[in-house]
This record gives sequence, C-alpha cells and structure tokens, in this order.
Amino acid sequence: MLKEVTLFERVEPAPPDPILGLTEAFRADSNPDKIDLSVGVYKDASNQTPVLKTVKQAEHQVLAHETSKNYLPIDGTDAYGHCVRRLMFGADSDLVDSGLATTSDTPGGTGALRVAGDYLHQSHPEATVWLSDPTWANHPAIFEAAGVPIKTYPYLDRQTNALAFDPMMATLAKVPAGDMVLLHGCCHNPTGVDPTADQWLAIGRQLVACGITPLLDFAYQGFADSLDSDAVGLHALYESCPEMLVCSSFSKNFGLYRERVGSLTVVSRNAQTTAAVQSRIKVGIRRNYSNPPSHGAAIVQTILGDGELTQQWHGELTQMRDRITGMRQLFADSLDHRSVQLNPDGNAFITRQRGMFSFSGLTKDQVGQLRQKHSIYIVGSGRINVAGMTGQNMDRLCDAIASVM
Ligand code: LMR
Repeated sequence: MLKEVTLFERVEPAPPDPILGLTEAFRADSNPDKIDLSVGVYKDASNQTPVLKTVKQAEHQVLAHETSKNYLPIDGTDAYGHCVRRLMFGADSDLVDSGLATTSDTPGGTGALRVAGDYLHQSHPEATVWLSDPTWANHPAIFEAAGVPIKTYPYLDRQTNALAFDPMMATLAKVPAGDMVLLHGCCHNPTGVDPTADQWLAIGRQLVACGITPLLDFAYQGFADSLDSDAVGLHALYESCPEMLVCSSFSKNFGLYRERVGSLTVVSRNAQTTAAVQSRIKVGIRRNYSNPPSHGAAIVQTILGDGELTQQWHGELTQMRDRITGMRQLFADSLDHRSVQLNPDGNAFITRQRGMFSFSGLTKDQVGQLRQKHSIYIVGSGRINVAGMTGQNMDRLCDAIASVM
C-alpha cells in the first residue's frame, strides 16, 4: 500500500528572488517596449550582453589545448590561483607566491561567499557576519543558509546619497572581537558609493583594533576607475589587517556570467596558518560541490597568462566602463532636462556613484508603478542597472520616471 506523500504536498511556493525573479518576470512580459534595468549585467549600446572578443579567442585556445575532462583539484589549479592573486594584489605583491595567500577556484562570487560562510559557521560557530545596510540582496540569504548569524552596520546617508562614514565607524567600533565584517571591494552594490582611500585605511585600522576579520566581496574590479585603482580598498585592508578573506567574481569584468567563475582567497601573515584555513575551506567545498567547473577558470587563466590577450581585455573592460559612465551622465542630464530631481540636492549624485548601479532613491511604490504601467524593471530597493541603459531607451525611461514622481 502506498504511503501518503508529505514531502511535497504542503509546500508553500517560495517568493520570487528579489533580483533574478525580475529577470523571469521581464522575460514573461509581452510589451515590446519593455526595459530591463534589474540584474547587474552589462549591455552594449545595442542592448546586448556580448561575449568579449578576448574571451572568444581564449576559448579557441582552451578547446584546442584541452587534453582531459578529469576532475580539477578541490580548490582548482595552482596556476589559476596565481593569476587571480596577481590581478587582485599586483604582480609584485608578496601574496602572489609566498604561501601567505591561497586561492580556491569557485563557482562565481556567490559560490565563494557560500564557501566563506560555511567556513565561518563550521570553524567559528559563535561568529556573526556584519553586512552593510543596504547590501546586495543575496548576501543575507547566503549567510543565513550557511547558518551564520547576521547583523548590519550603517553604510549610506540617504539624505545626501553619500557614505555614512561616521555612523559606520561608530558601529564597527562596537563589533565584538572574532566577528567578520563584509565590505564591498569597490562599486558597492546597490549604492555605488565607495570609501575613499583614506577612509579604507581608517576602516582597516578600526577592524584590526577590534580584532575583526574582513571579508571583501570584490565582484566589480575594473568597473569604477581601473583594475589597479579599484583594488585600493583591498590593499588598504592588507596594510592593517593580519587576516582576511577575499571573494571575487569574473562574471562582470570578463563577462563570464553563465560560466560561474570566481575565487575565494585566504590571507594571513603566516603560511602555516593560511594552509590550515585552506584545508578547512577544501573540506567545505568537497561537501558542497566537490570541485569547481573548469571552463570559465581556463578562460580567465588563458587571458591573464598571455600579455596580448591581457591588453586586449583591458581595452574591452575600459570600453564597458566608459559606456556606463556615459550613460550615467546622459541619465542625469535627461532627468534635469525634464526638471525631475531624484534627490533634493539634484541629480549630480548619479554621476558620483561608481560601477554598474545607481541607487536612485525611487520608492518601492514608484518602482512598482514603473513595472506595472511602463514595463520598466528595476530592483525594489530603487537600484537601477545603469549598464542596461542605452541611447534608445533613455527617453522612455526618463519620461516614465517623471510620470511616477
Ligand atoms: C546583481 O546584483 O544584480 C548581480 O550581482 C547578479 C545577481 O546574482 O544578483
């Protein structure tokens, strides 16, 4: 006799994901004039997300030279880790080859964050992770799933759209020793507001004074100013903090979104300590997805290991960054032209924000109206993906915003 089914029958459907759920809704929208400014994905002037030319060339090389589909090591290859550390810390850094830092090849930045969360929960179950308020909508979900307690620190002054530096530092000063603070390496998601170089130094000193380990989420290197200057926060933290974790993603700067390629780097001042932590990280990976996918990492490694491809990639990254900067300016000008102010101080904050996003100040209700009445999709927090704006959709976007203000 069949037993009653209970595992599936009484399950309530989950709410849609606050970001990727919008992509699903956008796809289902039949309005031919719909505009998607939700998920953080780069689009070119013709509203396409291209495969970078450099990536295509690297892929040809990878396919031509690949000899096996055997498993990769649990944390990926040494060669990949080496390239990633050179990119993040600089070719001359003692963190590239000394054993003070080790890198795992992870499925995207999200995979790296989850592995970091698992490490924290398994090795330090009493530790809390502190997230900026606001932060990427998936951060709390990832750490909650890993079983890590979460608290927040203030980050944005919503009146001025600037960093709430003093309130942030006041909270960090009270974080208990042994906790972890997550910081966005550059192009803060969702606000586009980053600390200055001096503020990064002060943050690093504060963390070390309190015995707090930083976790840097570094998903947008190259999207603010340049690959090197976007690493200023990372370098400043390393100056003060004896230990840290760095999660990086190559979804955006190599356009490798669907390949799921990123990394988790452990840094300490002692190679033995780093190796011990890395061994714990490997246990977490093995239990989670066993070992990483290969293709995306092979592309990144091929590009970073070849001077000509690296130069060409720098050019393509600069083009993406410059197009976004141009769209920021056009967005601010187009709103000004319609006498629409997203902030009492005007729209200049839009061009000060860095990276893919503009934290517009639009309310949940205004965001809802944009979607219902105009088929314009932006994240509920008011975060707009500037990288999805084009010369063609700008007037429709700004007219729609004017109509819901
Ligand atoms: C975003 O914030 O839109 C991106 O990081 C993509 C994602 O997975 O949410």
